[in-house]
Amino acid sequence: MDTLLSFLSNISWWMWIIIALALIAVRDIIQRKHTISHNFPVVGHIRYMLESIGPELRQYLVANNREELPFNRIERGWVYASSKNENNYEGFGTDRDIYAHQHIFINNAMLPYKLEDNHPNKKDNHFLPCAKVMGQYNNRKRPYRPASVINVSAMSFGSLSAKAIESLNKGVKIADAYHNTGEGGLSPYHKHGGDVVFHFGTGYFGVRDDDGNFSMKKLKKLVQDNPFIRAIEVKLSQGAKPGKGGVLPGSKITKEISEIRHVPMGKDVLSPPNHSAFNTIPELVEFVEAIAQETGLPVGIKAAIGKLGQWKELADYMKANNKGPDFITVDGGEGGTGAAPPSFADHVSLPWVYAFGDLYKLFKDKGLTERIVFIGSGKLGFPAKAAMAFAMGADCINVAREAMMSIGCIQAQVCHTNRCPAGVATQNKWLQRGIDVPLKSERLAQYFNTFKKEFLEITHAAGYEHPCQFKMNDVEVNVDDHNLSKELDSTYKYHKVEVPFCGMQSLKDCPHLGGIA
Ligand SMILES: Cc1cc2nc3c(=O)[nH]c(=O)nc-3n(C[C@H](O)[C@H](O)[C@H](O)COP(=O)(O)O)c2cc1C
Repeated sequence: MDTLLSFLSNISWWMWIIIALALIAVRDIIQRKHTISHNFPVVGHIRYMLESIGPELRQYLVANNREELPFNRIERGWVYASSKNENNYEGFGTDRDIYAHQHIFINNAMLPYKLEDNHPNKKDNHFLPCAKVMGQYNNRKRPYRPASVINVSAMSFGSLSAKAIESLNKGVKIADAYHNTGEGGLSPYHKHGGDVVFHFGTGYFGVRDDDGNFSMKKLKKLVQDNPFIRAIEVKLSQGAKPGKGGVLPGSKITKEISEIRHVPMGKDVLSPPNHSAFNTIPELVEFVEAIAQETGLPVGIKAAIGKLGQWKELADYMKANNKGPDFITVDGGEGGTGAAPPSFADHVSLPWVYAFGDLYKLFKDKGLTERIVFIGSGKLGFPAKAAMAFAMGADCINVAREAMMSIGCIQAQVCHTNRCPAGVATQNKWLQRGIDVPLKSERLAQYFNTFKKEFLEITHAAGYEHPCQFKMNDVEVNVDDHNLSKELDSTYKYHKVEVPFCGMQSLKDCPHLGGIA
C-alpha cells in the first residue's frame, strides 16, 4: 500500500493531466452517442462547450445594439434604466437607420398640446387611465376603467416564480395598473393589493371541477372572496402557440400548485387545445354572458389572430343579439410564452399589426368598436410602439416580457427549463432567493410610470391630451421614400373610430376608475 501511495505521489501534475485526457479519449472512442467526440476524442468537447456558451458570447460581446431578438440591447436597456429611475436617454442622436423599410414615424404637431395649470397631469405626470370603461356598454354590475393604459399580461404562477408574481402584484398596486393572473389560477402571491384580471384557458385551473370541466360555482366564489378581481379573461389562444394545448407534468405539481389549480397531485394534467365549456361562436358568447351575469364583472376574450371567418361570425352575433365580450385582447404572433415549440412560436398566427388591423376593421365595419375595450400585446411596452397601437385602435396594452425585464429578467430565454438565472421564471427556491420583492415591485412600478410619462409626452408632441386621440394618419410607415411612405390608414385601409373623450379630469372623476384599494 505504502509503495502504491509513494508511486502515486511521485507522479507530477502534468502527468495527471495527461492521464485524465487519456481516460477521456478512451471514453470518447468507446461511446457512440456523440459522433463528434467519438471521431475527434477530447478536442470534440471544445465544440460542445463553445456551442453552449455561444448565446452569452453573442449577447455580451458580439451582437450590435439593435441586433438581438426578441428584445435588442437598446430596448432592454431602456426598460432596465426606466425601472431603476436612471437616465434612460440616449446621447448624440438615434443610432437607428430611420430610412429603413417599415420604420415608424409619429407626426408631431407644430405646437404641442399645452397643459393648463389645473390639469391632472400637471400634478401627476403619469396619470394615464384607459379612455374606455370595460363592461359599461353591456351594463355589467361592476364596470371597470383600468387606471393605467399599461398593465401586466397573463403569466401564471407556475411559469413565473412566487417571488416574481408577488413583485408584479405589489408593483401594479403602486402604479395603479392591473395584474393578469395567466392560466395557473389565483395564487396567494396575487393577493397583495393590486387590481387583478382573472384569466383562464382550457384547463380551467382554479375554477375546474374534479373532471377538469369549468365550474361556475367555483368562479363565483372566487370572485366573491376576492373583490380585487376586476375583470375576467377567457383565453382562446395566445400568439406564441395558438391551438396548442399543454401538459403540466405530475412531477411539477407541488401541494401548493395542486391546491391553487384544483388539480390532483402526482398525475399529469392536460390543458387541451379546445374548450369543453363551449364549441360554437354563439355558445362562446352565451358563456361570456353567463359569467358576466353570475359574477357582475366585465368579461373579455384573448386570442391570436389568423383566419377571420369565425371572428366575422362573432361580430355578426354580437350585433344581432346586442351582447358579447366587454374586451378583446389581441396577442401578436411575436408574443412570448413560458414554453412553446418553435414551429408554433415562429410561424402560427399573425404579427400584432396585421392581426390587430384585420380584427379592428372587422368590428368597426359592424359598428361595434365603441362597446369593446381593445387590448394589445406583443412587444408593445415602448411608448412609440404604443402610440402606433393606439392610433390603430388599441385602448390599453398588456406587457409580459417587458414586465419580467423590469424585475430582473436578463432574456436568458430558458423559461422552459426551470433554470432561469434571474429567479423570475423558475420554481427553484434557491434561484428565487435573489429576488428582493420590495425592490422589484418598485422597479415594475417605476417602469410603468416612466412608460406612461413618456407616452404622454409623445401624445402632447402630437398635439393631443390623451393617446386615445391618436388617429391612423398620425403615424407613418416607411416604404423606402417619403413620397412612398404611407400613413397607417392607407397601409391598413381603415380609419379608427373616434373614442369619446371629455378630458383627463373626467377620467379622474370616473366612479369606475380602478387602482383604488
Ligand atoms: C413566461 C410567460 C408566461 C405566459 N403565460 C401565459 C398564459 O398563461 N396565458 C396567456 O394567455 N399568455 C401567456 N403568456 C403570453 C403573454 O401574456 C403575452 O400575451 C405575450 O408574451 C406578449 O406580450 P409581450 O410581448 O409583452 O411579452 C406568457 C408569456 C410569458 C413570457
